[in-house]
Amino acid sequence: MNFCRNISLKCFITYFIAVWICISFLATCYVYELQLYNYIWKQPQDDCVDCEHHEKENQIAFEDLELYLRMTSRFTKQYYDFLLPSLRYFWPGNVSVVVVLDEENSQDKELGLKLPGTYPYPRVEYQSPIDPGIYHHKGHERMQRDFFYPDDKIKKKYVGFLDTDTVFITRVIPDLLFEEGKPVIIGIYGKSDEPYFRKESLTTASVFKSKEVFRGMSFFPVIMDVSHIVELRIYLEKLHNKSFDEIYKQYSGEPISQFSIMTQYMWSFHRDKYKFHFHLKSYNNGKWHGEGNSPNRQSYEFYQTNVTDDQKCPKPRSSIHYRYHPNWRKPPTLRNILKTGICFSGGFDVCPDQCKHLNRGALQPELYFFESVDWSWDKRSLDEQKKHYAKVLEQRNADTDSAIKLGCVEANKLWFKP
Ligand SMILES: *[C@@H]1O[C@H](CO)[C@@H](O)[C@H](O)[C@H]1NC(C)=O
Ligand SMILES: *[C@@H]1O[C@H](CO)[C@@H](O)[C@H](O)[C@H]1NC(C)=O
Ligand SMILES: *[C@@H]1O[C@H](CO)[C@@H](O)[C@H](O)[C@H]1NC(C)=O
Repeated sequence: MNFCRNISLKCFITYFIAVWICISFLATCYVYELQLYNYIWKQPQDDCVDCEHHEKENQIAFEDLELYLRMTSRFTKQYYDFLLPSLRYFWPGNVSVVVVLDEENSQDKELGLKLPGTYPYPRVEYQSPIDPGIYHHKGHERMQRDFFYPDDKIKKKYVGFLDTDTVFITRVIPDLLFEEGKPVIIGIYGKSDEPYFRKESLTTASVFKSKEVFRGMSFFPVIMDVSHIVELRIYLEKLHNKSFDEIYKQYSGEPISQFSIMTQYMWSFHRDKYKFHFHLKSYNNGKWHGEGNSPNRQSYEFYQTNVTDDQKCPKPRSSIHYRYHPNWRKPPTLRNILKTGICFSGGFDVCPDQCKHLNRGALQPELYFFESVDWSWDKRSLDEQKKHYAKVLEQRNADTDSAIKLGCVEANKLWFKP
């Protein structure tokens, strides 16, 4: 300011040059990012001869699975910034995704025209608003209600529910999501000390007229047999002698979790068709004996006697719920989380330079976190991680390597633009 107090030609020229340099610098960055974006999201993916064969091998167990994403155009940025890069690096190229949008929303309609043309080439479906009183005119409650009706939208045997801020953190192989062909369910068990989940367990218990077994909003993707969800609605309609939407209207508006309700049903009526894992919260590194357990939760005695050792064994998760990470707003957080997963999933071999800051034998803590609940205190978690990565490396092929390579390049440059 002082410098230019008396406007002179010399001052004007200096100022002009400085501004020009700044603008061209920013423009270069922008163009570079845009090129990177085009490279990553618009490249055809079938540029290696061997892929098809390998893809088949990898795909078999996912053939019956469609990922279900209930979103609206308000969440477009999350979809592009959080979910998509992680899908791209860690899922097989032809993952099936269904995006469900609001039927009455014109911006959703516009988005619905665009989405199927770009990765991951989702099928788009629309959901009518029905009677908004059912979900108390709240978008979030509406979304939860719609999760109970996947039979409208899903064309395969299994639905895999996701959120726009689900971030995959490791190569997704069938063993991570299915054991012996059965979908994995990871529930959080222990003292419910967050007020929200204390209340939420009350809702589940009240809906079923029996104690909640664990918190089911505790992993992604939540994979269920679609027909079991249809059965669940019928079961509750009989139990309450009213329509499912009336039941939903009665209980929503208070803390409620659609996933706790669904997993409760699967535990109660289809225990042998799913593989359950009880993520015990880390009180005293597992030395918790039921003190302060929520009154609406199954007792500690139940955990000791009715939960098998297998069900108590730590299971690596494929993803995290990103916006619950304490530093989620800071861009390096996502980059570092993705990069760690990329290195473990093949990066140590494919792009050693980008991974030399990491120790191959170390724990990848994100595998054992959901929101703020840690499971890595369990000594067995590192072993389970090693088993997982041994299988990932066994299933390495040209296709997975090229996804990992892409991740290595990109994780250093990140950001994504819709
Ligand atoms: C992915 O591609 C493979 C090979 O082309 C195919 O067999 C499989 O059915 C596809 N999977 C999905 C989920 O579309
Ligand atoms: C169920 O509700 C209907 C009316 O909605 C009522 O006529 C019927 O008696 C109820 N059945 C039971 C078993 O409560
Ligand atoms: C454990 O399971 C048995 C058999 O299903 C059941 O009768 C019993 O009530 C359960 N125990 C607890 C503490 O819930």
